Amino acid sequence: MKFTFTFTATAAAMLSAVLMLPPAQAQMRAEDVAAAQAVAASNGCTNCHDASIQLMGPAFKEIARRYKGKKVELELAKRIREGSEGRWGELQHPANAALEPAQASLLARWILAGAP
Ligand code: HEC
Repeated sequence: MKFTFTFTATAAAMLSAVLMLPPAQAQMRAEDVAAAQAVAASNGCTNCHDASIQLMGPAFKEIARRYKGKKVELELAKRIREGSEGRWGELQHPANAALEPAQASLLARWILAGAP
């Protein structure tokens, strides 16, 4: 029965891995993911945001869940650059005027994909 058990456990693990994958994640190319991670790290985003855990700002996966299936990429990119408040709590998301619009769009797309 060891084989059956191992097989079942492996199948369950694979299934849960597939189910946990946000659908948009598969659409981002590896180099875009790497670029987004670098832009987020070098612009201080990760001081306030983690993919999974709420820090000062909401977890990126939580943001992805809230806007799942909605066309908000442009709006989010704008708020990433211009600031946001009152949507998640009392704290403010600061403006990031130094970000290029294209970088903000990349970040928005990456966050909506669950920040892989
Ligand atoms: C000083 C801490 C801080 C930094 C730095 C920061 N954020 Fe935020 N962020 C927040 C907070 C707090 C909120 C919630 C604001 C609100 O309630 O509207 C937020 C909200 C957001 C949202 C959701 C906005 C919405 O409309 O729902 C996104 C997306 C986001 N941040 C992305 C980023 C990115 C990308 C960067 C880096 C360029 C970044 N944040 C840098 C604190 C921060």
